[in-house]
Amino acid sequence: MTEPDIKKGLAGVVVDTTAISKVNPETNSLLYRGYPVQELAATQPFEAVAYLLWNGELPDAAQLADLRATERAHRALAAEVKAVIDLIPLSAHPMDEVRTAVSAIGASDPGAGGSVLNAGGSPAENLERSIRLFAALPAIVAYGQRRRRGEDIIAPRDDLDYSANFLWMTFGEEPDPVVVDAFNRSMILYAEHSFNASTFTARVITSTLSDLYSAVVGAIGALKGPLHGGANEAVLHIFDEIGSADNVVPWLDAALAEKRKIMGFGHRVYKKGDSRVPTMKAALDTLVEHYGREDVAELYDALESEFVARKGIYPNLDYPSGPAYNLIGFDTLTFTPLFVAARVTGWTAHVIEQAGANALIRPLSHYDGVDERHVER
Ligand code: CMC
Repeated sequence: MTEPDIKKGLAGVVVDTTAISKVNPETNSLLYRGYPVQELAATQPFEAVAYLLWNGELPDAAQLADLRATERAHRALAAEVKAVIDLIPLSAHPMDEVRTAVSAIGASDPGAGGSVLNAGGSPAENLERSIRLFAALPAIVAYGQRRRRGEDIIAPRDDLDYSANFLWMTFGEEPDPVVVDAFNRSMILYAEHSFNASTFTARVITSTLSDLYSAVVGAIGALKGPLHGGANEAVLHIFDEIGSADNVVPWLDAALAEKRKIMGFGHRVYKKGDSRVPTMKAALDTLVEHYGREDVAELYDALESEFVARKGIYPNLDYPSGPAYNLIGFDTLTFTPLFVAARVTGWTAHVIEQAGANALIRPLSHYDGVDERHVER
């Protein structure tokens, strides 16, 4: 019998089509519904990009106003969801908190209950649920950080757009436009990236005709890992270990001798550099200038140039976004939940796409365990 050609980690395997985004590592480009992500980040509010991912086109003024009205109407943390969050120990990782909160939202959606036979939901119901999750996640993430700091919850502000309101609910201060702009760009860059591990997880769950909330809960679980979304948190842990630019060389000598992976570097698809990094690095630069923190830029540049020179492995999006979120004032543990708030748009667009042209995702495995044997009688 010939050995099957196993693609460990599904590397290089094309499993389906998608019209949502296109990653081209050869040209170092990423398109959302045809638009270069850099152009979207430079010109659009995150709400418009969410609309684009779900509907295939950028919204006109009336469509954007409509989405914003719905988003504002669902921003406040529902009492039952807050009650569930309050039961979670403060020692839990915030990703566990976000995962549980999304699960609680799903369990309180009357339309999602009842028989598993109607769990999948119609495209219109799933779009409505997507918008509600998109609207609710900032309150969940912001409250998570505040309660860990022993601070009270802050109600959303109807006069602020998505990104400004997110920062308001987290810090309780009117955010500076420079900071809002950098944060908005990061949300857009994080929103979508084809069949990455968490999105694929969402599609696998959807393929069984399970519901959108279950798909998002599963995706959050996949995103938590440091090889995926957890890397932005991990970048700050290594920045803390290194301390300052002049310690990069000895730190890297020791880390590589221990065969450690350097978080925020490398990518399964991009081997010549991540298409999103220049845009996020530019956003980080504006924050460095705004907060007068040249030391952060020096450490960033020193680690990047030393690691690239030694290994030829380039930074991914988590490398600039970690220090950017740190400068804005987010706790390190809040970074991956911010990724959730952004990526929920891509995940839910994929749920809707998968459900619309479904085939159960069920690959094969090659058995290499012991040969058939029998219980001794
Ligand atoms: N530090 C040190 N060595 C690395 C790194 C790294 N960050 N990334 C890759 N390598 C080495 C790896 O050790 C391996 O070497 P060898 O062939 O000698 O065993 C080689 O490069 C190939 O790496 P791999 O892990 O087999 O390749 P992959 O395509 O599975 O890796 C990756 C992709 C993202 C898992 C990996 O680059 C990694 O672990 N990076 C660090 C974690 C990280 O930053 N993740 C965020 C990914 S992008 C944004 C997101 O999805 O959240």
